Amino acid sequence: KQVRKGFPKDFLWGGAVAANQCEGAWKEAGKGMSTADIHPYLPNLNRKELDFNHLDSETFYRFKDNEEYYYPNHKGVEFYHRYKEYFALLHEMGFTCFRMSIAWTRIFPNGDEKEPNVEGLKHYHEVFQELKKYGIEPIVTMSHYEMPLHLVEKYNGWSSRELVDLFVKYCEVLLKEYKDEVTYWIVINQINLIQYECFGSLGILKDKTENYLQAQYQGIHHQFVASAKVVELARTINPNFKMGTMLADCIINPFTCHPKDVELTMRRNRMQYFFGDVQILGEYPQFAIQYFNENNIHLDIQATDLELIKKHTVDFLCVSYYYSRCVSHEKNGMDAADTVDNPYLKANEWGWAINPQGLYCTMSQYWDRYHIPMMIGENGFGYVDVLEEDHSVHDDYRIDYLGKHIRALQMAIEDGADIFAYCSWAPFDIISAGTAEISKRYGYIYVDYDDYGKGSGALYKKDSFYWYKKVIETNGESL
Ligand code: BG6
Repeated sequence: KQVRKGFPKDFLWGGAVAANQCEGAWKEAGKGMSTADIHPYLPNLNRKELDFNHLDSETFYRFKDNEEYYYPNHKGVEFYHRYKEYFALLHEMGFTCFRMSIAWTRIFPNGDEKEPNVEGLKHYHEVFQELKKYGIEPIVTMSHYEMPLHLVEKYNGWSSRELVDLFVKYCEVLLKEYKDEVTYWIVINQINLIQYECFGSLGILKDKTENYLQAQYQGIHHQFVASAKVVELARTINPNFKMGTMLADCIINPFTCHPKDVELTMRRNRMQYFFGDVQILGEYPQFAIQYFNENNIHLDIQATDLELIKKHTVDFLCVSYYYSRCVSHEKNGMDAADTVDNPYLKANEWGWAINPQGLYCTMSQYWDRYHIPMMIGENGFGYVDVLEEDHSVHDDYRIDYLGKHIRALQMAIEDGADIFAYCSWAPFDIISAGTAEISKRYGYIYVDYDDYGKGSGALYKKDSFYWYKKVIETNGESL
């Protein structure tokens, strides 16, 4: 065997966005209302905490279409209308892939119609054609933190089994419609992130369940079954499709070398691997069954579900990595959101600690466990950028963050991991999923809007634009 150096020749370089955070046009062309459409901007927000996560009915109805609030994603960054402008700039940077999502509510506005919305289907054909023009490979997420609001009200989201067929029908339409335009599909964004982005992903209202944690895992089980069915269908529609699952990296480190910290770390990490184990290895691992039993979680799992899960595993793993966390047995339990800060790391205003080695370790560990092709589907640095008078943005902190993380990825590749793409989050500023701000900026391209959607909407290249262009041009050698 030869020593490996650098990135593979055909490595895909790009960036990632989600429909609800950039498209805007929330009521246009027949689009229905989604869970993301009721996320308001709250000016007094605590940036270190999420307030739109585990919702009860009271909060849900307060947020739903309330004129007192401003909802930034209703306008987004007008990607729905301006995608051509954005793509021209991504092309200028040399992008070879672009991860995006399709809004379920553009295709089935309420989620349970008999026929899809033709206008919605047409729109994404146009988007894919534009990407094709530039030779940019689309990587498409079918469900990225938005589902028809109607399905929350009617079924309490994914806690109901009905969601399986409704979602599979939606995915079947996508697979058939875009079978010659899209090869890479990610069925559900960050399927493991139930402690953080729970409402957007599962659409379950807390007070409408008897046992909330059980309802969440039941929802996850339904998503596993739906994903397996989607993979099964995909194989018959186009054998060249590459079907993926996605995990938000929640692998943690022990706060100290105290054996109890180390044990807790192992237990916590296993409950993250659980999601990959089911979708990649095709089985519910025994440790998860033990965990459910100890935590009074009783799932309705049918024998045919397990057969489907076993048979229709995914082809690749997409990982998002932003920051790392620690756990201490003195302070933390098993809840994935329950962590302590790492005293060796600096964090941004949102408390996201910068740890490039974490990316190297985590990708290496996923590779060692699963041995399937992987990609980075998200990695980025949210910051309150300053637009200078000459319209420049000097985001050296972002260049530093991204450069170190891409180098860490390179190390994992050189060690043997099969990683085929890197998508930073997000190539142009978009609305934050966690806090609905645009001022948590990630882009190489500055979008001149503030948190109330005011501004010229002009697009300006940040310093990182030129930097990433060079990284792509040299296939990572400029780092
Ligand atoms: C990921 C999500 O968890 O984190 C994205 O998939 C999200 O949708 C990203 O935007 C960054 O989070 P935030 O809250 O900074 O937008």
